[in-house]
Amino acid sequence: MKVLVVGSGGREHALAWKLAQSPKVSSVHVAPGNGGTALDADLHNLPITNIAQLRQWAIDHKVVLTVVGPEAPLAAGIVDDFRSHGLRVFGPTKAAAQLESSKAFSKAFMKRHGIPTAAYETFTDPALAHAYVDRMGAPIVVKADGLAAGKGVVVALAATDAHEAIDFMLLDNKLGVSHNEGGARVVIEEFLQGEEASFIVLCDGRHVAALATSQDHKRLLDDDLGPNTGGMGAYSPAPVVTPDVHARAMREVLLPTIRGMEKDGIPYTGFLYAGLMIDGQGHIKTLEFNCRMGDPETQPIMMRLKSDLFDLLMAATSGGLDQVELQWDRRIALGVVLAAAGYPLNPRKGDAITGLPAAAPDAMVFHAGTAQADDRLVTSGGRVLCVTALADSVKTAQQRAYDLVGGIHFDGAQWRRDIGHRAIRSAP
Ligand code: AMP
Ligand code: GLY
Repeated sequence: MKVLVVGSGGREHALAWKLAQSPKVSSVHVAPGNGGTALDADLHNLPITNIAQLRQWAIDHKVVLTVVGPEAPLAAGIVDDFRSHGLRVFGPTKAAAQLESSKAFSKAFMKRHGIPTAAYETFTDPALAHAYVDRMGAPIVVKADGLAAGKGVVVALAATDAHEAIDFMLLDNKLGVSHNEGGARVVIEEFLQGEEASFIVLCDGRHVAALATSQDHKRLLDDDLGPNTGGMGAYSPAPVVTPDVHARAMREVLLPTIRGMEKDGIPYTGFLYAGLMIDGQGHIKTLEFNCRMGDPETQPIMMRLKSDLFDLLMAATSGGLDQVELQWDRRIALGVVLAAAGYPLNPRKGDAITGLPAAAPDAMVFHAGTAQADDRLVTSGGRVLCVTALADSVKTAQQRAYDLVGGIHFDGAQWRRDIGHRAIRSAP
C-alpha cells in the first residue's frame, strides 16, 4: 500500500523511515522531502507542495494513507481538502488546527474547558497591551496570534522587552507572523517556572493514545542560553514526566482537550502536542498546543516505537485508537541537531556535508535542511541533521550520538554539547 508523507524536515524523515518498516507498506513518498529522504532507498521524493496538486497525485496513485508533518498545510486546510475527495489523511482539520494556529483560540478554549494554563489577556490595541504590561510587570510573556515558525513568543524578563515585543507584533509585524482573521493580535500571559516536557498523543476524534514522552532543547546554546530555535535536540523518555505526572497530564490536559473539541463541534484528529510546564510539586500547566508532531522530538520517539506506525495511523483514521496498544523500546533515544551557520536568523545554504556514518541498528541520522547538488550533499536550511542514538542509559545514548556527530562535517555547523543534561542530572 502506498503512503504519502507531507513535509521536508527531520520529523518527516523519521515518520517516513518508520512507515517504510511496515510490511504492509509498498512505497513511501515524501513531498517534497529532503536530501536524506532522496538518499534513502526505501523512500521516494515527490517535488509537489501545492495542496490541490498533492491531492490529485494521491488520487492518481491510489495513496492509501497521507500523513501531514508540518503545521502550515494543516492550517491551510489540507485535511479538509483530502477528506472532501474521499482520501484517508491523518491530521487535524483547518478548524481544529487553530489549537496551534491561533493562540487566542487555544487560550480561550483552555479557559472554557478548565484546562490548566497561564493566566492571560488578549489584545489588538497596543495602548491597552502596554498598559497591561505596566500593570503586571516583568517577567511576562508576549505571544503573537498566528503561525510564526517558532518566532512568535517573547519571554520578556524586563518590561522594556515586553513593550518592544508588543510593538513588533501589533504595529510592525517584524516577526513575520501570518495573521488570523481580524489582523494582528497578541496574547500576554503570566510567566511560568518549572521544567518543560513534550506530551504528544494520537487522536482519532474521540480517543487518545499517548506516545512516549520527550523533552526538547529550545535554546541555541548550551545551558539553555541564546535565542529560541525550533529545537536543538531531544530525547525520550523525559524523566520529569513521572507516572503521576503522566496520569495528571492525561486527566487534566489531553482528555479534556479531546472531549472539549468534540463538544465544541470540532473533533480533533491527528497528532496533538501539548507543551507542558511542570513545577516542583508535579503541577502541570499547558504552555501551548501544536497540531502536529514535534521536531526534533519525533526523531527519538520514532527510534523507540516498536509498534507498526502504519497500523496505528490506520486505526487512528478509523476511530479505533481505543483498540491499540503501543509498544516501546525500553532504551533511551537521544537526538542532537546540527544546524547551519547563521541559524536561527539567517541560515547559510550550500555548505558541503561529509562524514555521515554508515547505517547502524542503534543509530540514525535524520535529515532536515539537506539537498543533493551534483552528487554532493549540501546544507539547504536552518536545522540540517538530527543524529539520533539508542542506548541503555541517557549517558550512553548521549555519548553514542556525540561520537557520530564528531565524524560529520560542514562549514559553520552549530550544535549543543549538552543534549539530555536534565535527564542526566536526575538519573539515579
Ligand atoms: P510556545 O511556542 O508557546 O511553546 O513558546 C515557546 C517557548 O517559550 C516555550 O517552549 C517556553 O520555553 C517559553 N514559554 C512560553 N510560554 C511561557 C510562559 N507562560 N512562561 C514561561 N515560558 C514560556
Ligand atoms: N520542537 C518543538 C516543536 O516542534 O514545536
